Amino acid sequence: SVLGLGAASAQDYPSRPVTVIVPFAAGGPTDVITRIVTEHMSRTLGQQLIVENVVGAGGTTASTRAKRAAPDGYTIMTGHMGTHAASVGLYPNLQYDPRTDFEPLGMLAGTPILILAKKDFPAKDLKEFVTYVKANAAKLNNAHAGVGSVSFTTCLYLNHILGAKPAPIPFGGTGPSMNALVAGQVDYMCDQIVNAVPQIKGGTIKAYAIATAERNPALPDVPTTKEAGLPEYVASAWNAMFAPKGTPKPIVDKLNAAIVKALDDENVRKRLLELGSDIPQGKDRTPEALGAFVKAEVDKWTPITKAAAEPQK
Ligand code: MLT
Repeated sequence: SVLGLGAASAQDYPSRPVTVIVPFAAGGPTDVITRIVTEHMSRTLGQQLIVENVVGAGGTTASTRAKRAAPDGYTIMTGHMGTHAASVGLYPNLQYDPRTDFEPLGMLAGTPILILAKKDFPAKDLKEFVTYVKANAAKLNNAHAGVGSVSFTTCLYLNHILGAKPAPIPFGGTGPSMNALVAGQVDYMCDQIVNAVPQIKGGTIKAYAIATAERNPALPDVPTTKEAGLPEYVASAWNAMFAPKGTPKPIVDKLNAAIVKALDDENVRKRLLELGSDIPQGKDRTPEALGAFVKAEVDKWTPITKAAAEPQK
């Protein structure tokens, strides 16, 4: 019967390669995290997980495509604090609701936000950066990965706090915008730590602060925003996997188990930690926890983006 076939296919899953949509350019934080984790998942599942970078509209184009894919476990995606939370407040006509149109599969990594600038940006610390940006915003530009992306949202929030309106420069991901920052073609950006650690260590860009309560072991010399004099700026992101709504529970469970197994692998952990990401533990790894977290993140970021989009008083 048709029903019998369905049950058998869930049991045999995966019997062919799985496409994992990454909503940003190769080489950026979402791509890097996805590749580290899916490399291990491919071994667990006995099939290749093939990363497909689908760029556009701050990751919302790819998320719409993933929502519309067949709910059979052969097309899944990595979404993040932008695509699956902030975009709700930033796109009045968003073609998906991250809270109801996906089956959460599992959290991959927390990604603290850093305030970064090109190497020759004329400020030696965060206090000077704040003063300089406030005074010179009209002639500065701010790179980001499209409206709704993490870099867009977190710098929208930073610029709102500073009362600054630099020229926004969109890229297909912060992989390419990091290249532009290193080349000195753009002035500053807010980015997830995994993208920035190699550049900061290489001395090719400036890092003014990390927007979390604690310093990060991957960048022990970078002060927190609180230490550096801007305690009101706190921002952190995350990357997680999602399947289209209606994907059978046994497939969701298999994918979650493969994610969890990857996050327990010594080599995967080493690579994620070296890049400064936070590895979820315990009950934070379940699909249910991710579903609840997405709702909380939409509730958290919607008022922030709305307030930041309003004209300055
Ligand atoms: C990326 O992978 O390029 C980032 O996650 C983009 C962003 O949201 O800033």
